[in-house]
Amino acid sequence: MTKVKTPIPKFKEMKKEGQKLRMVTAYDYQMAVLVDKTEIELILVGDSLGMVVLGLSGTNQVTLEDMIHHIRPVVKGAPNTVIVGDLPFGSYNVNAEQAVISANRLVKEGGCDCVKLEGGIHMADKVEAIVKAGIPVMAHIGLTPQTSSQLGGFKVQGKDLESAKRMIEEAKALEKAGAFAVVVECVPAQIGKRLSESIDIPTIGIGAGPDCDGQVLVTQDMIGMFDRFVPKFVKQYAKVGETIVKAFNEFAGEVQRQEFPGPEHCFAIKDEVLEKLY
Ligand code: KIV
Repeated sequence: MTKVKTPIPKFKEMKKEGQKLRMVTAYDYQMAVLVDKTEIELILVGDSLGMVVLGLSGTNQVTLEDMIHHIRPVVKGAPNTVIVGDLPFGSYNVNAEQAVISANRLVKEGGCDCVKLEGGIHMADKVEAIVKAGIPVMAHIGLTPQTSSQLGGFKVQGKDLESAKRMIEEAKALEKAGAFAVVVECVPAQIGKRLSESIDIPTIGIGAGPDCDGQVLVTQDMIGMFDRFVPKFVKQYAKVGETIVKAFNEFAGEVQRQEFPGPEHCFAIKDEVLEKLY
């Protein structure tokens, strides 16, 4: 399979044609290389970096510098996949100018193809300004982890009439502002469907049901490497964490029992050279 990077305007056509978009996260070169070998169209260098890689309790302490540092190796590792750089908390919520400056940094210093930001109608002016500056924007509504304390925690969103209606208005406003896609996190499946029917740009769901135009998962969740907390919407496609722990334990045991390294792992020197050494 020869993979080519999907041009960003094609995502809207894919939605029209009923083709699903696939996105996973990556934060380093190694994982990016693996994703690039697959059909997955998009890699999100998400601010989930905070929990998954940096060991933080949430995403809000992640900085623009952290994001740039992790976007760079992902861009190197996956030249045939669209790379989305996540704008971290505090890098775009002041005003549109700050949002453009931060997006410019992710693209210029990190090398990503586009950026993602969280929020609805109140973020539409930032989306519009970044798009006008020439950078494609992916929006993110529903459960927005950066403002989860305002939402009352990590809860399913859009369960009552008022908030479901508001979310549909938000999706429309973000589309009007020029976003090329919108991540929809943690909403009832029926609302994921309604949202997807309400706009022409693709929705990419995470805990938003099967009728979104695409799906995204955090890689470490889906391969079973991050088990501090496994949300209901995650399907674990592998148990990589268990495999790694087993390998570490085998290594530790073999070293202790002096079974590793074996002769096949050793280098030799000629006897006559060795004799002269003493
Ligand atoms: O940061 C992230 O990984 C995300 C996904 C959960 C969509 O925003």
